[in-house]
Amino acid sequence: KINQIRNHVSEKIDNAKDVFEAAELNQKLSGEKIDLSEPVRTQKQGLIHPISKVMQEIEDIFSELGFEFSTGPEIEDDFHNFTALNMPEDHPARQMQDTFYLKDSDLLLRTHTSNTQIRKMLNSEPPLKIAALGRVFRRDSDQTHTPMFHQFEGFMVDENVNMGHLKWILESFLEKFFETKNLELRFRPSFFPFTEPSAEVDINYAIEQGRIKVGSKSKDSKFMEILGCGMIHPNVLTNCNIDAEKFQGFAFGIGVERLAMLKYGITDLRMFFDNDVRFLQNFGFEE
Ligand code: DAH
Repeated sequence: KINQIRNHVSEKIDNAKDVFEAAELNQKLSGEKIDLSEPVRTQKQGLIHPISKVMQEIEDIFSELGFEFSTGPEIEDDFHNFTALNMPEDHPARQMQDTFYLKDSDLLLRTHTSNTQIRKMLNSEPPLKIAALGRVFRRDSDQTHTPMFHQFEGFMVDENVNMGHLKWILESFLEKFFETKNLELRFRPSFFPFTEPSAEVDINYAIEQGRIKVGSKSKDSKFMEILGCGMIHPNVLTNCNIDAEKFQGFAFGIGVERLAMLKYGITDLRMFFDNDVRFLQNFGFEE
């Protein structure tokens, strides 16, 4: 009898427990209801800076053209920035670039990405097909100069590289980058100590509806210089222990900001580095 009573009471208690637990769960769930009509909380997403965007584009195009990407140090020595590039001490061309020197040392902030040519040639064997992107520094500051800017360098060394290859590579790149088949490239003789012969390349552009348009065929179109290039000087090859009788190469250097200004119609170079959010919102990219 006693056992019967005990079973009866236990059963009642178990049932009551189930009821209480279910009630508790229901209450919890009803409190956690998702209100689908509630407005979404907006998340601020960062945008890609136009300079980074241009560098990504350059990397895509030149990787496709079979170039290997390399970098050199931003703090460089005199040998790799000047001497090996056929600019011995007291060479007048050194004055073309106002250099930041580090106190009490042989070190400086590289004035161009051409140091990557030397670094790469010294520690590898031709054939070479190299591209490099990076920061460079010069003591210069006004509407068209900033003390830090970016350059893009490319070069190729092999037994039978010539100016024709250089021209084709530059044409292919610029047509892809500016997304136009209407580009006219003008190779104008020029001088750089590290190339012989040297050329500067101009491209056609015009202002159309207040905006710069590269590759314009309008009757008002003009030419603008965008890069320097040439055949690598035999002295530079020799300085890098490459047999200049057997190998030759081309090289070129382009300002990244200049490319970004032309492609996206940005008029003041300093805007790139002010970090004004309004500028970034206008010219930033989502991917
Ligand atoms: N280093 C040059 C400058 O900063 C640009 C340049 C010109 C690079 C000709 C090259 C070249 O590789 O062949 O003004």
